[in-house]
Amino acid sequence: MQDLFDLSQRVAIVTGASRGLGQYFGRALAKAGADLVITSRDLSRLDEFRREIESLGRKALPVQLDVRSQDDIENMVRSAVNEYGRIDILVNNAGLNIRNPSSEFTWEDWDTVLQTNLRGAFFCAQAVGREMIKRNYGRIINVGSCTCLFGMEGIAPYTASRGGVLAVTRSLAAEWGKYGITVNVLAPGWFKTAQNAVLYENKQWLDYITDRIPLKRPGQPHDLDGTVVFLASDASEYITGQIILVDGGFTTGATRAMP
Ligand SMILES: NC(=O)c1ccc[n+]([C@@H]2O[C@H](COP(=O)([O-])OP(=O)(O)OC[C@H]3O[C@@H](n4cnc5c(N)ncnc54)[C@H](OP(=O)(O)O)[C@@H]3O)[C@@H](O)[C@H]2O)c1
Repeated sequence: MQDLFDLSQRVAIVTGASRGLGQYFGRALAKAGADLVITSRDLSRLDEFRREIESLGRKALPVQLDVRSQDDIENMVRSAVNEYGRIDILVNNAGLNIRNPSSEFTWEDWDTVLQTNLRGAFFCAQAVGREMIKRNYGRIINVGSCTCLFGMEGIAPYTASRGGVLAVTRSLAAEWGKYGITVNVLAPGWFKTAQNAVLYENKQWLDYITDRIPLKRPGQPHDLDGTVVFLASDASEYITGQIILVDGGFTTGATRAMP
């Protein structure tokens, strides 16, 4: 049974691994046996994480990547193949959010969010997918969010990007299943990182969110380990085009008793 989750001899690219969830995902995959390609727009931000992965006995190749650059994406794939000869797993994690009332968003805000979260994820999948198709094997894990499924105030471009990520995931799953490639969305609920640290400074918000999560706490770093390893491994061989929410039940809707 344990072999189903074994990632030794596998190579995983994790985009946006300079901090936050990207490091949670990379750490979990490395602990399951995978060698990594880790990316950031600034290579120096990867030094510490590379050392941590190497201390686990795994390899970590740092690559500079801005997902808005076609050249960077092509270079990432070339570097991965040169180093390891293969890519088995892609975690499309790089992303950002801009918070504003919808009456205030600029065209630039919209382009920044959509070009990073949606266009970037698609073209990383395309470039890596071309390599996976040659080998008839691949696991693509697109990071989504609760907003793949529902709306939220103050982050309209972000919700558009996440809805798009789910749609693209389903299309790629439909198209690439015949090549042995699965494509799924892993959608984290609330995890404290640089992207949303400002929310966690607001105790009222934290109490509100905690109350609406059936498991009564925001996510902890280890909460994503099982799902990312599952989706990256043979255990999920017959699952594609799906979304798995790791949100403590937040999206179940009616989490409190009626007054
Ligand atoms: N935290 C949550 O609760 C939560 C919930 C649902 C979904 N998510 C999603 O999970 C992903 C990671 O979020 P996080 O909370 O860990 O955020 P974070 O701490 O801000 O980290 C974001 C990562 O994305 C990279 N990145 C940003 N823009 C990039 C670009 N143009 N090209 C390449 N890399 C870029 C950053 O790398 P550099 O700045 O070093 O380049 C960084 O490593 C995001 O897609 C986010 O939307 C987060």
